[in-house]
Amino acid sequence: MFKIIRKRELNDQVMLMVIEAPLIAKKAKAGQFIIFRTDELGERVPLTIADYDADKGTITIIFQKIGRSTMQLGTMEEGDCILDVVGPLGIPTHFDEGIKRVAVIGGGVGCAIAYPQAKALFNAGVKVDLIAGFRSKDIVILEDEMKAVSTNLYITTDDGSYGSKGFVTTKLQELINSGVKYDCVVAIGPVPMMKFVCNVTKPYGIKTIVSLNPIMIDGTGMCGGCRVTVDGKIKYACVDGPDFNGHKVDFDELIRRNSAYKDFEEDSRGHICRLTGGVRNG
Ligand code: NAD
Ligand code: FES
Repeated sequence: MFKIIRKRELNDQVMLMVIEAPLIAKKAKAGQFIIFRTDELGERVPLTIADYDADKGTITIIFQKIGRSTMQLGTMEEGDCILDVVGPLGIPTHFDEGIKRVAVIGGGVGCAIAYPQAKALFNAGVKVDLIAGFRSKDIVILEDEMKAVSTNLYITTDDGSYGSKGFVTTKLQELINSGVKYDCVVAIGPVPMMKFVCNVTKPYGIKTIVSLNPIMIDGTGMCGGCRVTVDGKIKYACVDGPDFNGHKVDFDELIRRNSAYKDFEEDSRGHICRLTGGVRNG
């Protein structure tokens, strides 16, 4: 059992939880993920590790209360225990030796994962431009945390209610046009965002790492659920990723596969049991 040590609402939809998981905290590295199950009937849900503290034996997860399981996790309180947390899974993010300047890009909740990437690079002495995009001011998360681990923090909002108006790609293009030279770009967020970041960087030959979040089931490379096509070859995000060279990813296929279970997810959120008349939440 994994005890919830701290719970903090980052906005109406997004929750941060610090969980007691000493063995995972000891081994975790930026870019890796866990799979949790709230109880015996719960589904297995992958979440990238947002932070970890080996001394305190804790990991931090940040999630959007969007599906049945994340909504259920969001109702759990400090002191409650999650049944299973498996990890750290996946290959840690790898950066080439000698890189000097990197743009780390987070889109919405993806900023939860952009944050540890920026932190690892910044602490290694790399100059980090962190571009964080949100739809509007009221859903901005982790601003102070991101400021602390970046050389420059650029916040963008789609509606212009905070920071500069536009998508993260607008800011990235602006910085490249102004003559900034990046050794690498890291992008984490909605799949269309990662696709369009890659479209911006490709003509300049800037290496671009994306963190993919396809549907996952076992997290061990056995079920095939997280299949993605990279450089024309089949890869499994859980064991070969979740990071990949963005210029080689078939994003359109990933978008199609990620939307395959949308109707089931919608259905399970508001499913009314025909026997009891109750709304199923577990
Ligand atoms: P969102 O739809 O609100 O988008 C956030 C920002 O991304 C926008 O403000 C914009 O700047 C940028 N963006 C979106 N679409 C774009 C496009 N077509 N072109 C250029 N920029 C674009 O994001 P959200 O609702 O917070 O969702 C976050 C997404 O991140 C989810 O899809 C989630 O699955 C994903 N995510 C991924 C990981 C991971 O580990 N890979 C972790 C957390 C979240
Ligand atoms: Fe099953 Fe990756 S989650 S193969």
